[in-house]
Amino acid sequence: MKMISKLTLALALCLAAPAMADEPGPGGSKPPVPVTGQQVYQMVCQTCHMADGKGAVGAGSFPSLASNPKMKMAAYPIVMVTKGRGGMPWFSDMLTPEQTAAVITYVRTNFGNAYPEPVTADDVKRLSPPPAKPGH
Ligand code: HEC
Repeated sequence: MKMISKLTLALALCLAAPAMADEPGPGGSKPPVPVTGQQVYQMVCQTCHMADGKGAVGAGSFPSLASNPKMKMAAYPIVMVTKGRGGMPWFSDMLTPEQTAAVITYVRTNFGNAYPEPVTADDVKRLSPPPAKPGH
């Protein structure tokens, strides 16, 4: 008799366990301000250049950043991101030099690119002129 009641208790505990584990945990809260290069990339760049960096051709043509030898000279992506070109918007008024440096370092060390020297905020400031005036 004792054995059975112990078993019943164990069973009851087992069944109760999932309910107890059902408490709300920390949900998918995202930092409002992107900090790491990966966060900046995911929030700003991947819309056009895609999650894998390979770009896309559709309504527009977005070049691949993956295995792209143009990433070797850090100045090239810095000028692209701060000044823009054609369908590529400029971000000098949206991203801080720190965020710009972080995202470029991220792109240069991911997606098949292996240019490990980090880009610094000073590099960005040196190459980034004041935002272009619209409507010229
Ligand atoms: C609104 C879409 C869009 C967004 C957002 C965007 N890009 Fe671009 N990007 C483009 C287009 C279009 C080009 C091609 C521009 C041209 O050559 O005329 C380009 C070109 C580039 C190039 C040059 C590639 C090459 O091979 O010449 C780099 C580097 C680049 N983008 C990086 C970035 C980074 C980093 C971000 C995020 C901070 C970003 N882009 C966000 C559309 C976008």
